[in-house]
Amino acid sequence: MHKLLVEGGTRLRGQVRVSGAKNSAVALLPAAILAESPVTIEGLPDISDVGILSDLLEEIGGQVKKDGRTIHIDPSNMVSMPLPNGKVKKLRASYYFMGAMLGRFNKAVIGLPGGCHLGPRPIDQHIKGFEALGAEVTNEQGAIYLRAKELRGARIYLDVVSVGATINIMLAAVRAKGKTVIENAAKEPEIIDVATLLTSMGAKIKGAGTDVIRIEGVDQLNGCLHTIIPDRIEAGTYTIMAAAQGDEMIIDNVIPQHLESLLAKLREMGVTIEENDEQLYVRPGKNLKSVDIKTLVYPGFPTDLQQPFTSLLTQAEGTGVVSDTIYQARFKHVDELRRMNASIKVEGGSAIVSGQSNLQGAKVKATDLRAGAALVIAGLMADGVTEITGVDHIERGYENITNKLIELGAKVWYEEMSEEEVEQFQNS
Ligand code: EPU
Repeated sequence: MHKLLVEGGTRLRGQVRVSGAKNSAVALLPAAILAESPVTIEGLPDISDVGILSDLLEEIGGQVKKDGRTIHIDPSNMVSMPLPNGKVKKLRASYYFMGAMLGRFNKAVIGLPGGCHLGPRPIDQHIKGFEALGAEVTNEQGAIYLRAKELRGARIYLDVVSVGATINIMLAAVRAKGKTVIENAAKEPEIIDVATLLTSMGAKIKGAGTDVIRIEGVDQLNGCLHTIIPDRIEAGTYTIMAAAQGDEMIIDNVIPQHLESLLAKLREMGVTIEENDEQLYVRPGKNLKSVDIKTLVYPGFPTDLQQPFTSLLTQAEGTGVVSDTIYQARFKHVDELRRMNASIKVEGGSAIVSGQSNLQGAKVKATDLRAGAALVIAGLMADGVTEITGVDHIERGYENITNKLIELGAKVWYEEMSEEEVEQFQNS
């Protein structure tokens, strides 16, 4: 087991290239199950979640070949094998095997998904959708059993705007008989990306990216070639880093429109950002001013950038309030930032950040993926060395973060943890 060390104080300079979107990749890979012939996906991020999903595709009989950032998936010999445990529990997105296998085989047995602990993360809206399409869904000893004689299109109103439920229902509905309408659908760019792949496979989908998605089921889907969109959360994380500790930084391979809410807030704080079609050029302001943020569904401020943004607010003038309306308990990073001398109070679903703390390097733990990113940013700004454990969380979502940071001039490196440290980590 290793830990990540960050020596603070160096200004970051240069260009960083953003990888393919994790939250698209984790849906695109299971979506390949729905085709009868090979699917090729280009531009995949090299992160552990992608590795786990590729293994799961192989477990159900898929032939998977990786060639750098490109993956070829031949789903023709896949079967509806139960996937009750093991790798399924390692990530949240394994729930997309439910919709995809239901769509292709009319049945699936999938263990309840794992993923970051951000408070309660129910899947009732996914199940409501599957049931509306004609599936019987039961929870037997921690695994979800889905069975349908035949899937039939339906009108489904989501009680909660959910990225996962919207995609999962699309996956099941593209091969259902007749028309499905998903109302109050999520509008995230990753949903459009999945719909683009499915459409290239032969699906009939209208309205992805709006809150009403209409799907006309088809009998068969075929393989295709798809290029994934850039990761807006990775891009946002490096943009926040540039504002926090950059000198002049270029964030490359970005769709700036996907980050409008973040860019607006950074500009309000006094950060100068120029954008072109696929790059952001970030110059930090002299005296950053605090702002309040409230996370909302897309195109609102993304919950996944709330934690990294909190680290930036520790350096701004004044007090900023961070409210998370999506995951009201997504504040585990705050205790760790406090260890580094940040002045933050959590009240209800908000963190109140008092600015211009003199951050100090400390031993801290990444409790989840974006908490890890928040600690890396804090470590870059702190005096001395910050030691971050729980690095596997960070590696689930940020491709090659140390190399990317080193290229920007940061002093970061891995060290093996001692037995004592491993024990302490496991008990904490
Ligand atoms: N919700 C329900 N019932 C459901 C589904 C969701 O009540 O059936 C609630 C959730 O508890 C949450 C809200 O609805 O309060 C939104 O959840 P959503 O379903 O949209 O989240 P998700 O699909 O499980 C994805 C990303 C998350 C990201 C959220 C919100 C993936 C694999 N994960 O999760 O990404 O935070 O959307 O944008 O796409 C991350 O990348 O760090 C991450 C956690």
